[in-house]
Amino acid sequence: MPDIDRITEEDKKTIIDILKKAMQVEYDMIVNHLRIIDQIIDKGSAESLKFLDTLKRLGTDSLRHTTRVASLIERMGGEPDFEAIVVDEMPDIKNMLVKQLEKEKLAMSAYKDAKLIAQKSQAKAKGFFGRLLSRGEEIQGDVNLKKSKVIFVLEGLQDEEWGHMKRVELALIQMNIQPEK
Ligand SMILES: [Fe+2]
Repeated sequence: MPDIDRITEEDKKTIIDILKKAMQVEYDMIVNHLRIIDQIIDKGSAESLKFLDTLKRLGTDSLRHTTRVASLIERMGGEPDFEAIVVDEMPDIKNMLVKQLEKEKLAMSAYKDAKLIAQKSQAKAKGFFGRLLSRGEEIQGDVNLKKSKVIFVLEGLQDEEWGHMKRVELALIQMNIQPEK
């Protein structure tokens, strides 16, 4: 049976699970960036004020990612859901940024893991027009969703998270905060 540009239904489910966790992280980040911005405006040093634009950009990107990931989950036949976050106390900017860096890393590895699964996944054409993957197994979600498209989206998200990590790392260094390894 010929390979087709599709992800198997089983792998889609695994990817959906990873993406749901990533969506939660992105959502947390939207809220956290706003809180960091608030703290900096309130009691940040002159040095930290330089990073307001960076932080705004990171927050906006997280918002965009949440929407993009939700749509990918839907196209793969899943249902995006997330719980409202429990806001923990993070009184100082340093702490917030260090936590933020952890979240950026978490998001990046989630997209990377999902991408690797998509790359390895190989659906075979079966039945009429390859619409049936195996007897009784129907394509969940968007029947036109290609494997190459999923990989493309996940790769873009992974690259952007890498950029975010570097931006937060730079902010930490320039504020004289040593990111914990
Ligand atoms: Fe990010």
